[in-house]
Amino acid sequence: MNGADDEPDGATPLDPDETVGLKFKHVATRGELDALEQANVASGLIWLKRRRKRDVLSEAFVRELHRRLFGDVWRWAGTFRQTEKTIGVDPTQIGERLRMLLDDACYWAENGTYSPLEAAARFHHRLVQIHCFPNGNGRHGRMMADEYLRAYFDRPPIDWAAGHDLLRSNARRDEYIAALRAADKGEFDPILAFVDSARSLKGS
Ligand SMILES: Nc1ncnc2c1ncn2[C@@H]1O[C@H](COP(=O)(O)OP(=O)(O)OP(=O)(O)O)[C@@H](O)[C@H]1O
Ligand SMILES: [Mg+2]
Repeated sequence: MNGADDEPDGATPLDPDETVGLKFKHVATRGELDALEQANVASGLIWLKRRRKRDVLSEAFVRELHRRLFGDVWRWAGTFRQTEKTIGVDPTQIGERLRMLLDDACYWAENGTYSPLEAAARFHHRLVQIHCFPNGNGRHGRMMADEYLRAYFDRPPIDWAAGHDLLRSNARRDEYIAALRAADKGEFDPILAFVDSARSLKGS
């Protein structure tokens, strides 16, 4: 597969041992892989819409959602990353850092620490910063933030893409990645503006 050089900025390249987990042996191009993942993500979304249980802030749900989104394509879907990446905590720290984040997010919701949108933006940033999985962290993390908004604040999802394709290089993705990098340094205004512009673009 001629993958890595087609990745947009801010995407995580896969290690060779992770590409071994591909369930389809005939995949030759990044485009084919994208299409397979997209179909899997679509079926994962159907699962998500049908489920009733609301234990969104649990490790079990974090992993189950990832498995539902990517498990038809990747054998390691739903299991934590075991290799170091340019983004993300040391692999041995993932479980503990995730538990702390889920506790914090629960506390924010119960105590009204932040507005719902700010809580979701901070939750999303911390989750993708931990980078639980070898791939799919962005797509999974955006859905996790939307589920958090729904289950804990009864709010509609963020319009992350706002009419663009967030998986490809374009101005919207540049703004998204720049906002996450600012949040890495403790500056949250750009990510707040990003999720807020998504809302105002929809006129809500
Ligand atoms: N500096 C950063 N700090 C925190 N998170 C980041 C940073 N740069 C990128 N990310 C996150 O990592 C994601 C890319 O990781 P990964 O390739 O695992 O996800 P993906 O779902 O396959 O990709 P994408 O969402 O980019 O299509 C980005 O979408 C973004 O959410
Ligand atoms: Mg990726």
